[in-house]
Amino acid sequence: MNGEEPMAHAAWLPAEAFGALGARRVLVHGEGLLVDTVFDEVAGACAGHGGQVWRTGVGAESGDAPTAGAVRPVAGGSAVGAVDLVLALRGPGPLPAVVARAGTTTGDDGPLGDEGFLLARADDVTVVLADAPAGLLYGLFHLVRLGEAAFDAELPVRRHRPALRRRMLDHWDNVAVHPVMGQVERGYAGGSIFWRDGAARRDAPRIRAYGRLLAGCGVNAISVNNVNVHATEARLLTDRLDEVAWIADALRLYGVRVHLSVTFAAPVVLGDLPTADPLDEKVRDWWATTSAQVYARIPDFGGYLVKADSEGQPGPFSYGRDHADGANLLAEALAPYGGVVHWRAFVYDHRQDWRDRFTDRARAAYDHFAPLDGRFHDNVVLQVKFGPLDFQVREPVSPVIAAMPATRLAVELQVTQEYTGQQRHVCYLGPWWSEVLGFRPWGPGERTVADVLADVPGPGPARGGDLVAVANVGDDPYWCGHPLAQANLYAFGRLAWDPRLDPGAVLDEWIDLTFPPSTSGDPALVRATLHAVMDGSWRTYERYTTPLGVGFMVRPGHHYGPDVDGYEYTPWGTYHFADRDGVGVDRSRATGTGFTGQYPPPWSQVYESREHCPDELLLFFHHVPYSHVLHSGSTVVQHIYDTHFAGVEQVVAMRERWRRLAGTIDPAVYERVGERLDEQVRSATEWRDQLNTYFFRKSGVPDARGRRIH
Ligand code: GCU
Repeated sequence: MNGEEPMAHAAWLPAEAFGALGARRVLVHGEGLLVDTVFDEVAGACAGHGGQVWRTGVGAESGDAPTAGAVRPVAGGSAVGAVDLVLALRGPGPLPAVVARAGTTTGDDGPLGDEGFLLARADDVTVVLADAPAGLLYGLFHLVRLGEAAFDAELPVRRHRPALRRRMLDHWDNVAVHPVMGQVERGYAGGSIFWRDGAARRDAPRIRAYGRLLAGCGVNAISVNNVNVHATEARLLTDRLDEVAWIADALRLYGVRVHLSVTFAAPVVLGDLPTADPLDEKVRDWWATTSAQVYARIPDFGGYLVKADSEGQPGPFSYGRDHADGANLLAEALAPYGGVVHWRAFVYDHRQDWRDRFTDRARAAYDHFAPLDGRFHDNVVLQVKFGPLDFQVREPVSPVIAAMPATRLAVELQVTQEYTGQQRHVCYLGPWWSEVLGFRPWGPGERTVADVLADVPGPGPARGGDLVAVANVGDDPYWCGHPLAQANLYAFGRLAWDPRLDPGAVLDEWIDLTFPPSTSGDPALVRATLHAVMDGSWRTYERYTTPLGVGFMVRPGHHYGPDVDGYEYTPWGTYHFADRDGVGVDRSRATGTGFTGQYPPPWSQVYESREHCPDELLLFFHHVPYSHVLHSGSTVVQHIYDTHFAGVEQVVAMRERWRRLAGTIDPAVYERVGERLDEQVRSATEWRDQLNTYFFRKSGVPDARGRRIH
């Protein structure tokens, strides 16, 4: 541990957020590592806010020795009546009597699962009951969110269980600084919290604080290194495994399991084998032995994450094998230990010819993977980016999600804001993710994407799955570069726990936790301002950047700021095809790439038709003249002008609103956000002017309102 690391911002778990429970008399009942964590959390809160805490149900003894100033021993059930809150694990021993009463009140004593909890109130005592230690931990953080409301006499009885079993963050952290991508690929929050310049940081307080924040929003798994696995990082699997084990030890305290990105070529680069062919016996043995060693060191290791045959990463294609062969090879090695392979579906030709209008990157994942449905082992999770392209501000939902009924799926989001302002712009992504999770691939009335992942019964895929996101944290004092980008991390965890949550309500939770009313001069103003700045910020970002779902138009390489033709004549497959007459990509079956045919009805018809295609996706699916009239009544080119002018006006208004917070919140946060809003105004203005000028020069159509275009 490096004792010199500065402490990071408390994010959504400042001491004040524990005020309500920390002022109570609390009993923690049960044993296990995570119950210890719960106890320590409660003890810390009570020490800070004047409450008291007891512990029972540990080993053979029912009353424990005091472990802190405010801690007193009590006997098993005798604390009833003397406490305000009980957090209890159902176990072999007797439960404190009040818990039994609260449990009976619910009229439902069914299983709560590995992570679920029951919240109830009986005899003026609030009770959190769980069947497994992780449930108690999530129950604790739920109490923190509720604050005083957790002690309301009218508190309704409620069972809470996560909708999705794995809620995972992928860190794109490199161990060694990459000459182009740096310490963290697509990282906008400083260095890695895990590694610095090739060495493990082993910053225990920081990693512990991180685990705590993850548990506080519901995340229960992370992978600790970049999906592009370079030479140094490959060795995390073998001779540098201790570094991974250290992280696993630290995060285990908060119920977070560790996964590792591995290179498919590992048997060659680490094992000195001549091949990594998935059907080769020696290769299978190598993975079996290596995985056994991993589990000997990290018994609760989560599994492997693999980017294969993608953007230069090695994969089974080199050996004439397919991706089911590749994924199953690793799945077999992990199966004896309960591990999983997250196998990414982000496979496409990144060396395509821009002259060719029919090769379509959007088609690639479906074309590669849909034919393999049914071939993947049970412990393979096919990890699909939410859209067919690449984390754009607007894309249709990937058709792969509806095409793999016999395959476990993970949907991958990008919390790191690669294409949504790189944590210099305010862009609250909760509403966008909600839209994606609520999309109904089989049409109105049918299941949603979230239902597919949560394994809600119905036609279509029934294997359940995970929600995964590329992480946005680094060693920045605010974790995320932009203090308000913390809300995206929080919202990801909360939506993975319960995808039906309203993203506005999630933002409310985040605001109350992060800016506790007790610390602000004007809590109502703080809340109203944050909503005004953040609620619509994703749509605002969309307005001043790429229009109508066409995507990209970013500066190649770093992907920040506008460059309309930056990718137009490159091999990357991300084109807009603007000419003097029109813009957009024809992905129809009738005249284009046929991508619309990858959707089941009704979307295959809706997207095929220019008339029925939703405005916001028009240019993703169709090449249309600038004069094409949208459902909104505007022409395409006038829409481009209007949204770009409006987008900048909204960013200017966001900055004005923010300035009203001067003196009401932490001045350092106020300053940092203010600086970033200045940059957002500058950048949005640049987007507006480049986009409007580009389309004016291409089309020759003047702005109907005569505004200044360059
Ligand atoms: C994007 C991103 C890359 C990343 C890739 C991936 O293309 O720009 O940096 O490696 O996605 O998801 O693998």
